[in-house]
Amino acid sequence: MKLNIAVLPGDGIGPEVTGQAEKVISAVCSKKGHEAVFRHGLIGAVAIDRASNPYPEETHRLCMDSDAVLFGAIGDPRYDNDPGAGQRPEKGLLSMRSRLGLFANLRPVKSIPALYDKSPLRRERIEGVDFVAVRELTGGIYFGRPQGRSEDGDTAYDTCVYSRDEIERISRLAFEIAGKRRGRLCMVDKANVLATSRLWREVVQQLSAEYPGVETEYMFVDNAAMQLIQWPGRFDVILTENMFGDILTDEASVITGSLGMLPSASIGLYTSVFEPIHGSYPQVAGKDTANPLAAVLSAAMMFEHAFKLVEESGMIEEAVERSIEAGVVTEDMGGAESSRTSEVGDWLVDYINGL
Ligand code: IPM
Ligand code: MN
Repeated sequence: MKLNIAVLPGDGIGPEVTGQAEKVISAVCSKKGHEAVFRHGLIGAVAIDRASNPYPEETHRLCMDSDAVLFGAIGDPRYDNDPGAGQRPEKGLLSMRSRLGLFANLRPVKSIPALYDKSPLRRERIEGVDFVAVRELTGGIYFGRPQGRSEDGDTAYDTCVYSRDEIERISRLAFEIAGKRRGRLCMVDKANVLATSRLWREVVQQLSAEYPGVETEYMFVDNAAMQLIQWPGRFDVILTENMFGDILTDEASVITGSLGMLPSASIGLYTSVFEPIHGSYPQVAGKDTANPLAAVLSAAMMFEHAFKLVEESGMIEEAVERSIEAGVVTEDMGGAESSRTSEVGDWLVDYINGL
């Protein structure tokens, strides 16, 4: 099979981590007789620097013409304290999500026995944690209009908007995912305060009648934030809107012991995008110390979701697990005896070659 993959490394540690993922994808392909063709595109701060646009038209065309997109990270400290900056790197990611119609972001969270001691949570709380957060990705307060400032500049506003259709399409996906897992769906909202959340609840309640095999519960987001830390093992599928999903999945990442471990798949109308949930981590950019596993595991999700190559996906997951057991991990996971980003990538490639 020929795999046409667009690679958008982006900012900070993005290029280093997608570089390892490319190596791993190539290793899997040569093992299984596939051909991976990588074409690179600009996004984020580098795209503002070189093309004056955080999501250039050329990059969009590349994404539309590819079978899958591997994305690194976005963000640059040059823009963080410049609220008046006309162009923002993050806008590149948001434009890509919007124009590719990526309405569903799947973020699996699974604890790994070899990392139990790295988690700030006690072992008995994280043993066997295995859930998927299904985050709506193209609506809500991230995209609602109006957004901006009053004329005198002293008042600012964002608008949270959701339509029934937007809620229904992602909810159906979440019900289907839950049906293939342990059959438990937890809808997270703030229906005691927000009108959008009440619409979410209404739609999900109606849909739940069509999925009798799935047990649905409803939880306010503040309570969910607490339960996620106190009893993460209770969750199977969490369904939530854009902003709540953003926050809760960063929180969830500490369960596994490192933010550098969590992959994600963004799927929707056109080409799907596979991206680590961590950011650009500019402090260590170019130092060959960043954790490549979230990007590598995103490549595993790519094989599964974009190419339906489940065995190939499993090879990557197995390689990652073995590397952790062997202690070949970056400094965020290994402390004193850590390996470099590229060494972890090389180890994974060697492991896959030896399969
Ligand atoms: C994420 C990121 C993005 C988001 C930022 C960079 C716009 O935090 O993918 O979770 O908020 O969605
Ligand atoms: Mn985030």
